[in-house]
Amino acid sequence: MTVPAPWALLAEVTHRCPLHCPYCSNPLELVREDAELGGDEWARVFIEAADLGVVQAHVSGGEPLLRPDLDAIVAAAHRAGVHTQLVTSGLGLSGPRLARLLDAGLDAVQLSLQDARREGSDLIAGRRSYAAKERAAQVIRSADVPFGLNVVLHRRNLDSVAEIIDLGTRWGADRIELANVQFHGWALRNRAALLPTRDQLTRARAAVADAARRGGGPELTWVMPDHYEGVPKPCMGGWGARSLTVGPDGTALPCPAAYAIADLDFPNVRERPLAWIWTDSPAFNAYRGTGWMNEPCRTCPRRDADFGGCRCQAYALTGDAARTDPACSLSPDHHLIRTLIPAPDTPPEPLTYRPHP
Ligand code: SF4
Ligand code: FES
Repeated sequence: MTVPAPWALLAEVTHRCPLHCPYCSNPLELVREDAELGGDEWARVFIEAADLGVVQAHVSGGEPLLRPDLDAIVAAAHRAGVHTQLVTSGLGLSGPRLARLLDAGLDAVQLSLQDARREGSDLIAGRRSYAAKERAAQVIRSADVPFGLNVVLHRRNLDSVAEIIDLGTRWGADRIELANVQFHGWALRNRAALLPTRDQLTRARAAVADAARRGGGPELTWVMPDHYEGVPKPCMGGWGARSLTVGPDGTALPCPAAYAIADLDFPNVRERPLAWIWTDSPAFNAYRGTGWMNEPCRTCPRRDADFGGCRCQAYALTGDAARTDPACSLSPDHHLIRTLIPAPDTPPEPLTYRPHP
């Protein structure tokens, strides 16, 4: 099989983070600061990634601004010819800090937001942070840099989606990504607290469509959850097909949530060149293409469109990453998804916050 070149790299430069979001998709066991790749190691990763064909890096975490050498990391990506987007909570993003990052070659900023109003946003983040985000939005808007907002949607904030879009418009965002929560890493502990009701989703989808029809505001991206329609999402655009993640300690993954798949041995950029990792490593080849599929995917006409859905979700729900994603109505495990959706009158469970040392 010819292996296509990746175009995007998720560079998780640290797992450290000032927030405690219950929807965090980082693994249960976080990488410690003393195990993080150094700036020189990241520089080598960007050179190898560019040689492989990567054109874009999302510099993420955790909170990347907690790395004092972030300017040097961004500069290394820039020198390698890779377009960089900083993915940040906004805490610690002052005007001078952003100016230094832009001087280093940063191309875009994506700011996370937890809800439209202070109380809701701080409640989900697990600490006071809304005011810092508001200031960060002003700093980003004042700089000449593309500005995206990213909002993870769930039971506690889906009813505010119209307000979130209004706020993003007032803050001057160019784009708002409205991403319905996925249950990986820490978020799996909060599934019963975060899964929305079907009615909430229907209302939120209508609000987004309404805003898109009115136009004149930021570009809107609505990422539908896959629990409700019996249709799996083409997760990651296919395993090992378009993008890769390098974790804080150099672990390389075909998907940022794949840490949880215990039967795969993920390679590390400290031990292997990225080209070998992408093209030859058993972990990246495990679910590449369609050859690994079992029925019903193996003979399904949609197998080249959705790649059998999400491997991490198949693993989380069935213990076998090679099974059809239970989100698919054709999956023999589809009942595992259907039974999770809460009835409209069920009160939400309490949130379990992500602790950080
Ligand atoms: Fe996709 Fe497999 Fe479901 Fe077919 S059976 S729609 S390939 S997940
Ligand atoms: Fe890992 Fe879908 S989240 S393959």
